[in-house]
Amino acid sequence: MIPQLSNYDEASLEAAFATLSDEVRQQAAELKTTEAQENFRLNWLGRKQGRLKLVSDAWLKSAPAEARKPLGMRFNQLKQQIEQALEAPAAAASSATVQGIDITLPGTVRQPGIAHPLISAMHEVVRVFHQLGFSTNLGPQVESDFYNFEALNFPPNHPARDTQDTLQIAGQQVRPSRDRLLMRTHTSPVQIRTMIAQEPPIRIVIPGKVHRNDAADATHSPIFHQIEGLCVGPDITFSDLKGTLDHAMKSLFGSAVKTRFFPSFFPFTEPSADVQISCIFCGGSGCRKCKHSGWIELLGCGMVDPAVFAAVTAERRRVNPDDDAYDPAKIAGFAFGMGVERIAMMLHGVSDIGHFYSGDMRFLEQFA
Ligand code: PHE
Repeated sequence: MIPQLSNYDEASLEAAFATLSDEVRQQAAELKTTEAQENFRLNWLGRKQGRLKLVSDAWLKSAPAEARKPLGMRFNQLKQQIEQALEAPAAAASSATVQGIDITLPGTVRQPGIAHPLISAMHEVVRVFHQLGFSTNLGPQVESDFYNFEALNFPPNHPARDTQDTLQIAGQQVRPSRDRLLMRTHTSPVQIRTMIAQEPPIRIVIPGKVHRNDAADATHSPIFHQIEGLCVGPDITFSDLKGTLDHAMKSLFGSAVKTRFFPSFFPFTEPSADVQISCIFCGGSGCRKCKHSGWIELLGCGMVDPAVFAAVTAERRRVNPDDDAYDPAKIAGFAFGMGVERIAMMLHGVSDIGHFYSGDMRFLEQFA
């Protein structure tokens, strides 16, 4: 509604503009959202339908010549008031409620976030390998049977699968066995994904989350983290594997740490080994932590089994029938896999894996 002016004397103008100015002031106090501000701006300053425009059209047109100047001045003042309300809507809105500020009250302490101890252990390990020229690769946590098992030389129904009791995705029985989905039990499937996608030489580490149908206890969790390593190229030998892991363990746990390699078995490496480090708690003399043996088992490793290269080659030949980038006569490789929780527990002397997942600030604050 546009009010019409019947009288252009000073008192009438004063009264008419006071009404408009009150209206502006009341609305300005409500500008708590940007949406409200924009509506307010359009309502008053809109080029075609804004109230300021409509009112000035209506009033100026019928104004006697001598009333034009006082009218124009008042319109300008009103416009300024609207613009000021838009510049400082918070002040306009809260001016009525501002109270004294007690500067002796303590401020709000904001605690800066920190990396979770598992993530920082992961970064530490990854950094050691980056310094050796490895890069990082990632893969999916929901994996197919082919990548998690078959291509890694675990045949269907092979007993070696029992060592990694799997969490299946529901409703997969209708699919061919190689396509069935599961939560990956290790980061090794990313070895396969990388080799299918890239030619040698390859030097990668693969950090990530893995899942196993394990009961939780002080050292086990059905969800945990691994860091996988893969190095493939001409002339890669078991000595390269030993030298690389020995260097990595010394970088992580101190130069006094010794490593030793024990024969082991993994379907996808041959020969395979478990790596032990001299106990970092007692220096090797024997204590409760190392069960008085002086050694702590930390990771699995081995030379890439030719059956793995064969599976990779078969897959690559679906795209390029002549592919022989992974011919075991030309290249060799080593792989390793370690548990991040176990390393973090060693680095920080944590005795229960559950602390990492509890979200208990008293535990986490120790890493700040
Ligand atoms: N994937 C194995 C496991 O989870 C570890 C491993 C990785 C062993 C690479 C050898 C080579 O137990």
